[in-house]
Amino acid sequence: MPMHVAVAVSGRGSNLEALLRALGPDAPARVVLVLSNRADAPALERAAAGGIASVTLHDHAASGEWLAALDRHAVDLLVLAGYLKLVPAEVIARYRGRIINIHPALLPKFGGPGMYGRRVHEAVLASGAPESGATVHLVDEVYDRGAILGQARVPVLPGDDADRLAARVLEVEHRLLPAAVLAAAAAGRPVPIHEPVESHQ
Ligand code: GRF
Repeated sequence: MPMHVAVAVSGRGSNLEALLRALGPDAPARVVLVLSNRADAPALERAAAGGIASVTLHDHAASGEWLAALDRHAVDLLVLAGYLKLVPAEVIARYRGRIINIHPALLPKFGGPGMYGRRVHEAVLASGAPESGATVHLVDEVYDRGAILGQARVPVLPGDDADRLAARVLEVEHRLLPAAVLAAAAAGRPVPIHEPVESHQ
């Protein structure tokens, strides 16, 4: 039986789409559920196009809807892919060690509350760091703090602005996240990723 994966989203859903594309019909993991805190998230259209069940959370801070949906779909792994709110503590407790997040920088730097979207890339550029990248990590009660499972690095190039850097990072996100899910499916739980994900740009 494939590992049942739920993906939580708040916006665009390009990582969801990359995951759906990477997991063919015979893959050892299958996205069975998409959860969103926003009814207007474009990611929900991507879920519908893929024939995936979705739930819009009426109260994203309450655990009841989360747990009911995760139970209903017998979810083994919860993936946060552009989910911008905190996951309720009861959900973290029930799924401890089985929730992963993708972050568009090299944690432990450039993470934490408020560090999402353009702000992350602006902070990287302002720091003068020669490289950035993406991180997949376990999720606990604190934003961006859980154990790091894998990273992919990209250079910061002369003339970069936040949009150019974001696009370069996103390209590796779209390969790092499927690699993390496939590694989890092979091991039965999230584990460190060993295959390197290189920048193609
Ligand atoms: C990605 O950069 C991800 O790392 C971050 O939020 C963004 C989501 O993009 N957590 P998308 O919705 O997957 O296109």
